[in-house]
Amino acid sequence: MIVCVCRRISDHQIRQAAADGAVSLECLQFELGVATQCGRCADCASHVLCDARAAKMQAHVALPQHHVSIGLHPQMA
Ligand code: FES
Repeated sequence: MIVCVCRRISDHQIRQAAADGAVSLECLQFELGVATQCGRCADCASHVLCDARAAKMQAHVALPQHHVSIGLHPQMA
């Protein structure tokens, strides 16, 4: 879905920017140019970024148990 019509930026591009470390609308403005013309997309872009960051954090919370078991010596497991 196109989020920013003026710059033709999609939600996928915003999610990718979040995965690459974007943490704020200002980051998206700098990296992608979102909300730098008419500004109507600012709220939607922020919402997509927030969703993407929440999903990224949930993925990190779900990983530790798997990672810990991979690193254990067989006698310690
Ligand atoms: S729709 Fe994004 S700046 Fe206009």
